[in-house]
Amino acid sequence: MVKDDRKFSVVIAGGGSTFTPGFILRLINQQDKFPLRQIKFYDIDAERQKKIGDACAIIIKERAPQIKFSYTTDPEEAFTDVDFVFGSIRVGKYEMRSHDEKIPLKYGVNGQETTGPGGMAYGLRSIPAIIQIIDYMEKYSPNAWMINYSNTIAIVSEACRRFRPKSKVINICDMPIDIMTRMARICGLKDYHDLDFIYYGLNHFGWWKEVRNYKTGEDLMPKLKKYVRENGYYVGGDFDKDTEASWVETFKKAKDCYALEPDTLPNTYMQYYYYPQYEVAHADPHHTRTDEILEYRQKIVFGECKRIVEAGTAKNNIWDKNAIHSEYIVDICHAIAYNTHEKFLANIPNNGAISNLPDDIIVEVPCLFGADGVQPIACGEAGRFQRGMIMEQVTCEQLVVDAYEQHSYEKMWQAFALNKTVPDALVAKKILDDMIPVNAPYWPELK
Ligand code: NAD
Ligand code: G6P
Ligand code: MN
Repeated sequence: MVKDDRKFSVVIAGGGSTFTPGFILRLINQQDKFPLRQIKFYDIDAERQKKIGDACAIIIKERAPQIKFSYTTDPEEAFTDVDFVFGSIRVGKYEMRSHDEKIPLKYGVNGQETTGPGGMAYGLRSIPAIIQIIDYMEKYSPNAWMINYSNTIAIVSEACRRFRPKSKVINICDMPIDIMTRMARICGLKDYHDLDFIYYGLNHFGWWKEVRNYKTGEDLMPKLKKYVRENGYYVGGDFDKDTEASWVETFKKAKDCYALEPDTLPNTYMQYYYYPQYEVAHADPHHTRTDEILEYRQKIVFGECKRIVEAGTAKNNIWDKNAIHSEYIVDICHAIAYNTHEKFLANIPNNGAISNLPDDIIVEVPCLFGADGVQPIACGEAGRFQRGMIMEQVTCEQLVVDAYEQHSYEKMWQAFALNKTVPDALVAKKILDDMIPVNAPYWPELK
């Protein structure tokens, strides 16, 4: 066998992200599987990134001093000599997420990060920033791959398909693997690696058609359906001891989503499309998920970084416990770097993967990941119900990209009005009109 002594260089775009320390710990712990020579951070907010960067410098120095580490706001420095770009940016940060959530709620419409009008507003903000990062990567490291988590993934993926069709960018989501880890636990297995599956739909909008034991091929759907019918994806006990209350609600609510279409198992995000009235009734328009994050996750992450910097050591840090979000992206880099052809989900042009849907829509389907990128796996037909749901939602996503391309007010209004979470075109207009001024620094001028 030829000796493979490659070591890779990664840049995390969105170095100041709350998920960055989790990426670092996972990368460090996976040095036998995915060896690194360099990690860099890139962000446009120097101050925010510094807080995370200084703590991560200590973590890396203590645990993997052989890896060169730096952080910067200079694109040339960041994107030169890298093999992988992790996309983890939030355009407009939590301040804008708060508007995405609160403006629709003012009009009795779901206020959610990646679904409904909030998700479309966020997607429109992300398009130019993601394209810019792709362009930096291609200019300074033309052989690199970008693995992108930055939302709204469905809209970002459609923009990539239209504007950068040849670029080496793969748009991914951690929700299905989070749910699959729950499925594994429900079936007495360890995690998502223990399951084989067919899942199809759009990002944050899909269904499992098959779930099997990866080793034995046993059909796990009957066991899972029985469990989800009663408990949703809530596992409880030690497994859920750190799960935040609103996420517990979400995993439990999957029970009601399953009830509507019991042939398949739903993504938890279907709650926003099946039960928008329930979501609105249970929301506080003055205290949304963003406020919870500011009070909890962001506080903990930045507090822990400060503690590490002051102590000068990262002993006993909170990220030693592995997070699925970072495990997944490292798995994917490994599959690409070593051409393993492992199966993961990606958001890609359909091209027949779901046989009764158009070729040119972006879908989230299982793919084989290797050195040449992703090869979709045929999923067969979407059910009648799913096909109807998908075509409505994907049209909204396409209209947002039309609005970006044409600077069109009308297209964005249509996207909102068509969406299943919005009851009326006038309501859609009011939401849009409130969103335009706050999004002015990020959106094209819609005429
Ligand atoms: P965060 O607000 O904590 O961090 C985002 C960082 O991005 C900030 O430091 C910000 O300054 C930076 N940023 C904004 N615009 C930028 C630009 N143009 N170039 C470089 N940096 C820029 O966000 P977070 O909550 O940690 O989430 C990060 C991203 O990951 C978000 O897009 C979120 O939606 C996404 N996410 C996706 C998944 C998924 O399943 N795909 C899962 C979790 C999080
Ligand atoms: C899941 C989804 C992400 C989304 C996140 C929001 O992980 O897959 O796409 O960004 O949830 O979680 P939060 O805790 O930020 O509300
Ligand atoms: Mn996601």
